[in-house]
Amino acid sequence: MKAILLFLGFTSICFNFISQSDKELDKKAKQLVSKLTTEEKIAQTCQVTLDALLKTDDKGTIVLPIEIDEKKLTQLIEKQSLGSVLNVSSHTLTREGWNKILQQIHAPFQYGKTKAPVIYGVDAIHGANYVVGGTLFPQEIGLAATWNPSLANKMGEITAYETRASGVPWNFSPVLDLGRQPLWSRFFETLGEDPVLASQMGAELVKGYQGTNPAESTRVAACMKHFVGYSLPKSGRDRTPAWIPERQMQELYLPSFKAAVEAGALTVMINSGDVNGTPGHVNKYLITDLLKNKWGFKGLAVSDWEDIRMLHTVHKVAATQKDAIIMAINAGLDMSMVPYNGPHEEYLNLFKEAVVEKKISMKRLNDAVTRIIYVKLKLGLYEKQLIPWNEYPKFASDEFKNDAKNAALESITLLKNDNQTLPLKKSEKVLLVGEAADNLIFHNGAWTHTWQGEDTTFNSAHAQNFHQVMRNAMGERLTYVKGYDLSSLGGWEQCTVVDIEKAVRAASSVDKIIVCLGEMPATEKPGDARTLNLCEEQQRLVQALQETGKPVILVLFFGKPHIIREIEPKSDAILHAYLPGDFGGEALADILFGSSNPSGKIPYTYPRYDGVVEHYDHVPSEEKTNKTLGKAIDPQWEFGHGLSYTTFSYRDLMLSKTDLNGKEELAATVTLENTGKIAGKEVLQWYISDLYASVTPAGKKLKGFQKVALLPGERKTVSFTITPEMLKFYGVDNQWIAEPGEFILQVGNQSVNFQLK
Ligand code: BGC
Repeated sequence: MKAILLFLGFTSICFNFISQSDKELDKKAKQLVSKLTTEEKIAQTCQVTLDALLKTDDKGTIVLPIEIDEKKLTQLIEKQSLGSVLNVSSHTLTREGWNKILQQIHAPFQYGKTKAPVIYGVDAIHGANYVVGGTLFPQEIGLAATWNPSLANKMGEITAYETRASGVPWNFSPVLDLGRQPLWSRFFETLGEDPVLASQMGAELVKGYQGTNPAESTRVAACMKHFVGYSLPKSGRDRTPAWIPERQMQELYLPSFKAAVEAGALTVMINSGDVNGTPGHVNKYLITDLLKNKWGFKGLAVSDWEDIRMLHTVHKVAATQKDAIIMAINAGLDMSMVPYNGPHEEYLNLFKEAVVEKKISMKRLNDAVTRIIYVKLKLGLYEKQLIPWNEYPKFASDEFKNDAKNAALESITLLKNDNQTLPLKKSEKVLLVGEAADNLIFHNGAWTHTWQGEDTTFNSAHAQNFHQVMRNAMGERLTYVKGYDLSSLGGWEQCTVVDIEKAVRAASSVDKIIVCLGEMPATEKPGDARTLNLCEEQQRLVQALQETGKPVILVLFFGKPHIIREIEPKSDAILHAYLPGDFGGEALADILFGSSNPSGKIPYTYPRYDGVVEHYDHVPSEEKTNKTLGKAIDPQWEFGHGLSYTTFSYRDLMLSKTDLNGKEELAATVTLENTGKIAGKEVLQWYISDLYASVTPAGKKLKGFQKVALLPGERKTVSFTITPEMLKFYGVDNQWIAEPGEFILQVGNQSVNFQLK
């Protein structure tokens, strides 16, 4: 019997809705829209948070465990026909819990009381992080450090499967904002500082989420966010202004979004902040002219949290709420994350007034709703709204966990390894220090089980933190001392020292010391910071341990760079773990013991000083030294840096020819050899330098990369194609141009010059 049920379950998962051509879907969407009243159309553009539908007590506080309030459901979904619901209330739900809620939300459509199904969206940004038991991957900054697009695809695929298993078909991911402002609280959500790396990894996430047919019961719609420029707040604080010249916008911030559009991303979320004085939500040029018209994006554009309202209350570009709606919708926004119960009534009413007064045309409204319905059709929501949670046999399977661990393994970056401190030897006794080793919240970061991810109650029962893994592996040979305390303060920049002396005493009986440094999980406003400096207490602890003379290994559980200039020189080895997810502890242990060889490369420039923001693609003038300060560009670690337990040599970099005419491609080859004694993976990073140009050229720019596995002594010839596009920059006339002249191609320690005629 069980076998039959399993089989039935499996067949329903494999059941794909017949993929309809986009043209047919467009036609169908238009027909469906034509059957809606104006009120129903407006309601489709309205998205509320789950809290809006939940039971509350007399004081308006959500009753736990959460439960749908039938009256609110009838009012918002059945009578008002709202188009979308989002988010998780307070904390992670089980799959059954999710299913129950979604079943209730879909009931009005299933019983024919509304004309369109609800589309439910959630932030599953590093695995199904709001589903109990979901498989948690590294946060995006760690994923980027793998430089392995196939892992991004896997993460997307598994996240989609497990998110859909909860009943949710829409994922507010990937973040495609570039990480070039390390103070920003959401730095860890980015794919690092480089547009080529972020574009390739981001596009693979999109493909992993959506597959070739997003209507499959194992896929979700991706949401590119936050379009665009959100990640560069001048102040470093969340949702504050960015100033981005058009050239930087074109060369740095737009490419990852363009690549995601090309990968078929179905939805986009708009930047909450403002760029060059224009809030993202009223930027018609970006949303309509560029994204929709020029790039041909066919999906829907959703606002971020309460952002239409903010145009009036915060940004002050709209004198009234009605103006705010008019400005945003006319700029090209299709759906508003309103998202509260009450304000949504005002939204519906004011929107209607604007339509009646012809301040929003019926054409624009129809276009917005057609896009929404198109996405719902693409997801197969008209045919089937919910597939029961128990029809997903691979949920939290060993296979998935293994994939998450692999992603963590390939992300962990060996920044320093003096005197072959690592790997550890089997017989060595180790002192492990640091709260960050001892709790999964420091491995996962925000958006894990709760919004800020700081509540330890919801840690995955199936995962072990790094301390637990080490304890199991080493037993009595391991001593653990907490050392410092982050979580009791809950603050971002603070921590307290718990027991330096105890740690120092414990050091006397061990061979090596591992200190795990960490930060409190936080995101958005609660994560705002004023400095990148690591809290003094953690530094003092490390210094005291360094004075014992025992080799010190630092493990950085950091979502952003914290300044460690003072403690780096006397540290013998340093591993950057980023926020590696639930299996980060296991992955780290494998690397420390040498059963796995590190292959991560840091996806951003790690600063040495708090006040200096620098990037690898700086221009030559930034390199001018100052007599007193010395080296001008002097990061702690360069973008792309990462060591291995083996060594690689590059040789024979060759080009098919040394000059090209601007239309043709140029083939490059290089030989890579594993010259060490163990198997390893190397990331070939192909950089091009334009020596002279009418716009100051960057010293070098990444143009492509490959991750290659080699056995000891193995050699491979790796090819790379230079396309004409790669030689272009955004010129003074605001056009992409390539100028004749000399270029250098560089990979590893090899370089070769070529001419563009
Ligand atoms: C965040 C988005 C997120 C949304 C829904 C906003 O505050 O900026 O990234 O998708 O909330 O949770």
